[in-house]
Amino acid sequence: MSSFGSGQKLDKLPAHVPPELVYEYDNARDSRMLEDPHARMRSLVLEAPPIFFSPHNGGTWFVTRKKAIVDITMNPEVYSNSFISAAASGEHGEHKEQQQGFMLLPISADPPQHTAYRAPLNQPLSAKSVAGLETAIREMTNELIDKVLATGRCDFLSDVAEPLPVTLFMKLAGMPTDRLAEFRHLATQATSATVDHATREGVFKRIAGILAETIKSRQEKREDDLVSRLLDSNINGRNPNFHEMLGYSITLFLGGLETVVNALSFGVRHLARDQELQAKLRADPSLLPGAIEELLRLYGIASTPRRVMRDDVCHGVQFKKGDTVLLLLPAANYDDTAFQNPEQFVIGRTEQHMTFNTGPHRCVGLNLARLEMKVFYQEWLKRVPPFRLDPEKKPQFIGGFNLAITSLPLVW
Ligand code: HEM
Repeated sequence: MSSFGSGQKLDKLPAHVPPELVYEYDNARDSRMLEDPHARMRSLVLEAPPIFFSPHNGGTWFVTRKKAIVDITMNPEVYSNSFISAAASGEHGEHKEQQQGFMLLPISADPPQHTAYRAPLNQPLSAKSVAGLETAIREMTNELIDKVLATGRCDFLSDVAEPLPVTLFMKLAGMPTDRLAEFRHLATQATSATVDHATREGVFKRIAGILAETIKSRQEKREDDLVSRLLDSNINGRNPNFHEMLGYSITLFLGGLETVVNALSFGVRHLARDQELQAKLRADPSLLPGAIEELLRLYGIASTPRRVMRDDVCHGVQFKKGDTVLLLLPAANYDDTAFQNPEQFVIGRTEQHMTFNTGPHRCVGLNLARLEMKVFYQEWLKRVPPFRLDPEKKPQFIGGFNLAITSLPLVW
């Protein structure tokens, strides 16, 4: 994934950037973000211009408003994903690197090519298909609860939030489940914005090596998993080649290992700090789907980049060909023009949140993510007594493309 984490700050602003649109913000290292990532997202909406330029990390535009993000994602001819590759540095002029790096499919493709690459994922990850996993998710959730219930405490991140979605996803994809800790470490490093280019490249090579083994073994013998289905899928009249299979597998690896873990952790952290809401959801589990959508809105995880392919004026801002734009989806969820009283937790909002983005690249794993969250909260709230944050230990956060927590000690 393109990194904006080089730390390199521009000495001079590009000529087309007006000073009034400059706001100093380092997406990887900003201290207010590392203190409380979502409070910082809200502050960007309140303090910075709706589209602002930060000179950090080689110079990047940031977009924090829902309407502008929707307009950009719906215009892939001008705002392209084609520069995104697994080991690119994110600095200007990285098309060379894209050839050396790994494609991320279907993320690195623009329509109409994207439509062909996305099609093989739609059916296996549809709401109907993933519904078949509900029993397995429930069993896994209960096994994890059994392990911690009597102790009256846990580190929610390592005890529950990591093993549940990660094991489930690896089973679904056909990847080995006995290397969970190693895989999580690799996925976290791969999406970290502070890892240097050489380390990132090494990490992606290791991920690709592991996934290549799985692909080769399924080439020899198909199993009942996503990698096997992708091998037999149809892309414009042919099966995907090995390079493309790696591209799919790397995207799924990152999508499956980094996102639900953090969505669950931020959501549980919210509930741990709101005993009234916990009680309400325990008393009436039918409120859960609405509550989960609101937790997803308040705690967006991923931000996503686009590259400007030709000069364009967007919401009054002049972009130049070659500019990089980061769509801050977690900030857009706090946009007052899209959500009334955005800091309040309101079950039953009708506006669509931006956590899964919109447009052609809207998350294809969202049915799986929602199902995992629903089953998890049903079982956890049924079995675990009122829980709160461990007052002795403060959670720590990571910024960058994915907002993340490194540990979440709970007591009950
Ligand atoms: C709460 C959990 C999740 C969040 C917040 C999330 C977020 C996102 C976002 C924002 C995008 C759009 C990226 C863009 O516009 O460039 C995306 C795309 C994607 N996600 Fe997720 N995701 C989650 C779970 C998952 C899971 C569980 C999987 C795997 C099954 C997955 C697989 C993908 C894939 C393959 C894409 C690329 C889709 C495309 O390019 O057409 N995601 N996700």
